[in-house]
Amino acid sequence: MLNKKMEDALNDQINREMYSAYLYMSMSSCFTHKGLKGFANWFMVQYHEEMLHAMKIYEYIGLRGGRAILKSLQQPPPEFESPLNAFISTLQHEQFITKSINELMELAIAEKDHAAQIFLQWYVTEQVEEENNDNEIISQLKIIRDDPNGIMMLDRELAARTTTVPTEFSKGIEAALKGTAAG
Ligand code: FEO
Repeated sequence: MLNKKMEDALNDQINREMYSAYLYMSMSSCFTHKGLKGFANWFMVQYHEEMLHAMKIYEYIGLRGGRAILKSLQQPPPEFESPLNAFISTLQHEQFITKSINELMELAIAEKDHAAQIFLQWYVTEQVEEENNDNEIISQLKIIRDDPNGIMMLDRELAARTTTVPTEFSKGIEAALKGTAAG
């Protein structure tokens, strides 16, 4: 059974992951509007990743005898002046998420909640990948700068990103993960 401190902290993390999804959906909308469909695709795939992150916690809270409580979502910015600007904002946001995951892990250690520590390990590893993905694209965008040919080439590359996570959660995470690359 989760203790109340752990349950409240995990519920706050659901909100952060849901906001992440909302933020990347907003970035996707912005780049669709700018005609950069590859960037829009990358951020929409990221939206699905974040929904999985939120749903895994949602389900875990229930599994441990707690109750998932959904809170209001902050409005994400609607405009991002350039792909570089959006990816720098993405990296900064992911660094904030990494910090929140580390704080959750510290709480699980302080509360001697071994099951929560094992559960959170997946997020610790995931955050390394998330920050690395952003850093790689930022490096490419810094080389490209304002070269329209470079932006269009990267746009085509990012159009190829496909989601490896399930997007249908009605039967639960384990059932959704079966048969997917993320499982
Ligand atoms: Fe769920 Fe991008 O952290």
